[in-house]
Amino acid sequence: MLQIIRTAAVVGAGYMGGGIAQSLADAGFQVVIADVSADAAVAARERLIAESEQFERQGLLTPGAAGRVRDNLSVGASIEQAVADVDFVEEAVPEEPAIKHDVLARISAACRPDTIIGSNTSTLPVATLAPAVVGPERFLTVHWSNPAPFVPGIEIVAGAATDPAIVPVVKDMLERAGRSGAQVADTPGFVLNRLQYVLLKEAMNIVEEGIAAPEDVDTIVSTTFGFRLAFFGPFQIADMAGLDVYANCFATFEKAFGERFALPGILARAVGEGRHGVKNGKGLTADYTEEQVLDLVAYRSEAYSRLVQLVRELGPSPIHREPVPLVGPTS
Ligand SMILES: NC(=O)c1ccc[n+]([C@@H]2O[C@H](COP(=O)([O-])OP(=O)(O)OC[C@H]3O[C@@H](n4cnc5c(N)ncnc54)[C@H](O)[C@@H]3O)[C@@H](O)[C@H]2O)c1
Repeated sequence: MLQIIRTAAVVGAGYMGGGIAQSLADAGFQVVIADVSADAAVAARERLIAESEQFERQGLLTPGAAGRVRDNLSVGASIEQAVADVDFVEEAVPEEPAIKHDVLARISAACRPDTIIGSNTSTLPVATLAPAVVGPERFLTVHWSNPAPFVPGIEIVAGAATDPAIVPVVKDMLERAGRSGAQVADTPGFVLNRLQYVLLKEAMNIVEEGIAAPEDVDTIVSTTFGFRLAFFGPFQIADMAGLDVYANCFATFEKAFGERFALPGILARAVGEGRHGVKNGKGLTADYTEEQVLDLVAYRSEAYSRLVQLVRELGPSPIHREPVPLVGPTS
């Protein structure tokens, strides 16, 4: 079995695939890209080199990045040629099962038997894509986020047929590319998009119910709880806010919105056991010593204070659109 990844191909050099190829090439991997045609792949390479030069000038990538991308990124005349002799292939074609099946079948028929194959699918379970792959034990989801050159986290999803031994090999590749991979179970939408789409759905419900305008929803999210999310996930935020407080808030939500906002079992059990979070040293998933609480609070204060500075330095998003009335007149 393959122990280390040194070479890669990315099939589908569009928005995500291009950024993935750019990131791996910048990190020193030899990367071949393929798209619907050789011409499309050549154009993508030129775009990625020009973009890397711009990012380097802006100080967004490290010095020498554009040169590394130019040296390490090459073009395959076809999918088959691009994947013929690489350690890892990332599929990043459109999120349509028929296209992914066709492309994954071509990749897996043409690459070496030990080549690890990842899909960048946002939502499709490994179980629905694996039947198209020759040798599904070397297939998994390696889900990069948008924009790929900058977002550090990657979801890794192994399917029932995936050989678990390939997961650390992929994680090692991601770490050498400056990324961190977290493994989650094989369900539609995995973790990232399941959470993200719940937020979007509820935000849209709020607008349709006439509770707030889209711009105000965006402002509230980015300046309040979204502000914290760069540093902490929902479990640690709940620990810091107080689990007893959250349990009481769920009671209001359940009364207003019914079962879908009912007190979750994890929280009910924690509060039932006297776990109130950081304030009594008993969190949802772990206990905190007094020293850990002090460290956590100090880290939080510094993180938020520096983020405020960054937001002040950068200013607001440059696009100010004229509001479009999304809430129709009530009759
Ligand atoms: N856009 C995002 O924010 C985002 C984030 C994470 C994951 N993803 C996922 O990444 C994948 C790609 O999304 P994208 O936004 O980069 O799409 P995109 O449309 O920008 O890129 C898709 C690329 O695939 C190429 N392509 C189409 N059919 C092909 C074929 N048969 N053979 C080879 N190449 C082919 C297209 O020419 C295009 O360059 C999807 O599965 C998507 O769900 C997207």
